[in-house]
Amino acid sequence: MKNIVVIGTGYVGLVSGAGMSDFGNNVCCVDVDKDKIDSLQNGIIPIYEPNLKELVDRNVKSKRLKFSINIEDAIKSAEVIFIAVGTPEDKNGNADLTYVLQVAELIGKSLNSYKVVCTKSTVPIGTGKRIIDFINKYNTNNIDYDYCSNPEFLREGKAVADFLRPDRVVLGTSSKKAYDYLRDVYRTLYINKTPLINTTIETAEMIKYASNAFLALKISYINEVANLCDEIGADIAMVSDALGSDGRISPKFLHPGPGFGGSCFPKDTKALINVAKKHNVSMNTIDAAIKTNNNQRIRMLSKIEKLLEGKLNKRTIAVLGLAFKQETDDVRESASIDMILGLIKKGANIKAYDPVANDSMKKIIPTIDYKLNWQDAVKDCDAVVIMTEWNEFRGMDLYELKKLMSKPIVLDTRNILNLAELKELEFTFDNVGRK
Ligand code: UDX
Repeated sequence: MKNIVVIGTGYVGLVSGAGMSDFGNNVCCVDVDKDKIDSLQNGIIPIYEPNLKELVDRNVKSKRLKFSINIEDAIKSAEVIFIAVGTPEDKNGNADLTYVLQVAELIGKSLNSYKVVCTKSTVPIGTGKRIIDFINKYNTNNIDYDYCSNPEFLREGKAVADFLRPDRVVLGTSSKKAYDYLRDVYRTLYINKTPLINTTIETAEMIKYASNAFLALKISYINEVANLCDEIGADIAMVSDALGSDGRISPKFLHPGPGFGGSCFPKDTKALINVAKKHNVSMNTIDAAIKTNNNQRIRMLSKIEKLLEGKLNKRTIAVLGLAFKQETDDVRESASIDMILGLIKKGANIKAYDPVANDSMKKIIPTIDYKLNWQDAVKDCDAVVIMTEWNEFRGMDLYELKKLMSKPIVLDTRNILNLAELKELEFTFDNVGRK
C-alpha cells in the first residue's frame, strides 16, 4: 500500500481518493478551497454522489482517509501524487490547463523524495509532456520522480461503483518503478483480475478521449435512429434492445434522449477534435456527434412547441429534471438549460423541479419558479417536459398527473412513461422514437 495525496476534491478527486483509501492506501485529499475541506473534515460531502458519504465515513473512521488544505506538506509525505483538478473548457473549446499546471509547479517546488506523479484529470493528448516540463522547471533540487497518466472513467451518479469495480485501470508511464507503485495502489483490483493496462503516457491520454468520444458518438447515433423512428413509426426501444443484444454493440449507452450533457462529453469531444485539427487529422464522426447533439436539443424544443400547436407564449410549462441526467446535482451542459431558455424565449412561464439539482440550476437560471416536488411543479400546467430519468418521474401516477395539470400534454424526452397508460388516459404526448 502507498501514502497518497489527491490534489482536488471535486467529483473525480474525492471519489478517487476515498476509493483508493478503501483499497487500503493512506490517502490525504487536499484542495485550495478551505470551505470544501472544512465541510469534508466535518463529514459533510460538498457534492451529490450516491454512496460517497458511506465510503468517505468508513475510511475516515479507519484513519486511512483525511483532508487538508496544506498541499505542500501532503505532497512531501506522499509516495504517489494524483492531480485531480478541473480542466474546464476555454472559450475556444480547448481544455483549460491553468489549474493542472499550477499544481505541477507546486509539485516541482515541493519534491523532497522519490514520488510518482499521476494525472487523473482528463487532459488533452500531449499534456503529460507539458506537466513533466513544468515539474522539471521548478524541481531545482533535481529530486527523482516518475510521471504516469491514470485517467478515470467515472460516471456521475455511479462514480463510487465505477471506481471500486472498474472495467480496467489504464496506466500510462515509461517507468517500471512507477508502474509497480501504481500496481501496489490498485493491488485490490489487481488481485481481483481487473485488467491493468500498462502503456505509454500518450496512449493512456488517447484511451480516455477515445472512450468518451465513442460513448458520445453512440448516444448521438441512437438519437438519430430514434428521430427516424419518429417519422417511420418504428419503436426505438425495440430497436435498441435488438441492437444491444449483439455482443459487438452492447446494450449500454443506447438510450435516446434530449442530447448528452455533463462536464465531460461536450468538453472532451471538442478537445479531441481540436487535438486532431492541430495534427491535420479529420474527426468527421466526432464532428457529426457534436452537431447531432446540438440538433437534438433544438428538436426537443420543436416537439413541445408542436404539442402546444405552436402557442408557447404565456403558457405554463413544468420541466421535470434539471441536471444533465438522473442521480446527480450537476447541471453543466444540461439539455434542460437549452429547454428552459428556449421556452422562456418563446414567452412560456416555467415551473421547474429536480430531486437534487434545483439549487444548482438556480445559479444559472434564477428567474423561474422552482418547486420541491413534481406535483407542485405540474399543478395547473399546460404541459410537462420530462428531461431526466429519475425513478420518481418513471413512477409518476399518470392519473394524478392528469388531474393536476390544466391540459394532459407531456413530452417524455427519456421514454420512461408507459405508452399504454398515456393512451388510456388520453394524454397528448410525444417522446424520442416511440410513436
Ligand atoms: C461520462 C463517461 O460515461 C465516464 O466514463 C467519464 O469518465 C465521464 O463522462 P458522465 O458524463 O458522468 O460520464 O455521465 P454519463 O452517464 O456518461 O452520461 C453522459 C450524458 O449522456 C448524460 O447527459 C446522459 O443523460 C447521456 N446519455 C447517457 C444518454 O443520453 N443516453 C445513454 O444511453 C447514456
